[in-house]
Amino acid sequence: MSKPVSQRPPAVADMKTAADLLNVLPETTEIIDGHLVIGGVDMVALAHEAGTALYVMDEQTIVTQLRDYVKWTRYHWDEVDIVYAGKAFLCRTMAELVQREGCCLDVSSGGELAIALSAGFDSANIYVHGNNKTDTELIECLEAGVGRIVVDSFEELERLSTLAVERGIVQPVLVRVTPGIEADTHDYIRTGAEDSKFGFGLNQGFALEAVKRTVALEGLDYEGLHIHIGSQIYALQSFSEAIRTIVAFIAEIQREVGVETRLLDTGGGLGVAYGVPDEPATIQEYGKVVIDDIKEECAKHGLPVPRMAVEPGRSIVANAGVTLYTVGVIKEIPGVRTYVSVDGGMSDNIRTSLYDAHYEALIANKADRPRTTTATVAGKHCESGDIVVSDGPLQEAEVGDILCVCATGAYAQSLSNNYNKQVRPGVVWVKEGQWRWVVRRETYDDLLRCDVFDKVQ
Ligand code: LLP
Repeated sequence: MSKPVSQRPPAVADMKTAADLLNVLPETTEIIDGHLVIGGVDMVALAHEAGTALYVMDEQTIVTQLRDYVKWTRYHWDEVDIVYAGKAFLCRTMAELVQREGCCLDVSSGGELAIALSAGFDSANIYVHGNNKTDTELIECLEAGVGRIVVDSFEELERLSTLAVERGIVQPVLVRVTPGIEADTHDYIRTGAEDSKFGFGLNQGFALEAVKRTVALEGLDYEGLHIHIGSQIYALQSFSEAIRTIVAFIAEIQREVGVETRLLDTGGGLGVAYGVPDEPATIQEYGKVVIDDIKEECAKHGLPVPRMAVEPGRSIVANAGVTLYTVGVIKEIPGVRTYVSVDGGMSDNIRTSLYDAHYEALIANKADRPRTTTATVAGKHCESGDIVVSDGPLQEAEVGDILCVCATGAYAQSLSNNYNKQVRPGVVWVKEGQWRWVVRRETYDDLLRCDVFDKVQ
């Protein structure tokens, strides 16, 4: 039932009113008999069968995004690692898919590492991040034989060296550099500026000192550098600027330390469309800018072109996912606004409360009707700020409707929580008319599992 990407334009014509949402929905989206259909699966029937709230992800869209990264980076340079950033969304099936597509994985905690290893992910293809890795985590990484550890502080360098030497390991490391670039994005997800808890500042000379110490310390193999300037970035110039800066630094390392930088990891950050007017750069444009810029800058400095890595998270999964809810209470406050409350909220998607993020919603069982009303989609939590969509267009909502919030594939499930002891939704993957759980819905037993009932004496 699902349509291949090439058939996307005809689907637009059928979609009438939801047509404007195509740029934020999965590539297999169709409207059939007024119902939203993704991956050949009717979202209304799925909601009734699997229950709501529910995260739904389209496997084909994820695969397309991974393959686009592979294609449009390796088109310009053979040696590029696509390192999927697991923080955007991770479960074992996802790790397995990333591996099947020939990509590497970025983990940023012992927990993410455990999931990857449990899925049989080849540890040599794992990159490890974190500004405050614990000894336990570093030991887990060394013992698993991870490919690269991205070091973030002088203190970590010393500890990692000791732990590696104790185990007779020489660990390849990347030094994370804060290039002093202000990426054009939300303050909370901007990471490359000088005032950042991440990395070694370039302008203060810390980065050069970190490279010197890495080279000098036993048990560490200086493989290269890492930068990550932020997330949800639309302006490709921010990446270009960071690349100019970091390649100049590679030249400085070559001069000052006399060591070759064999790998340059430029992090993630490519933005995606959440709303109708959003027009992020494509993966093709991003690949060209990043890879060509690195090659050009290296040529300018007379440097050999290093192996490269990019670490996309959001742009792999955001538009592959939607969240389905059932509409409950509808409150119309005359002259103020209409609240449409759903059976989830800030526990399954905190991005609106946290970053004032913009989302689009539609009613899955009225997908062919115009979104003529304006409604605020509110959650069921005990907070006024528990809003998923503020004053957005929506079809006329009724109790029992299945409401779909678009583009929730990244940083929704991974940031989910049990506030108000809400059980977290499960994650369903859809493909060619079939659906399956990849993360099951939580139950009250899951809430009780960690609760040690030590009765009051
Ligand atoms: N590499 C590193 C070292 C990162 O810290 C991140 C994201 C990525 C790669 C992936 O970046 P992406 O391609 O997804 O932009 N919770 C926030 C996003 C935080 C991003 C953290 N780091 C949000 O929901 O917008």
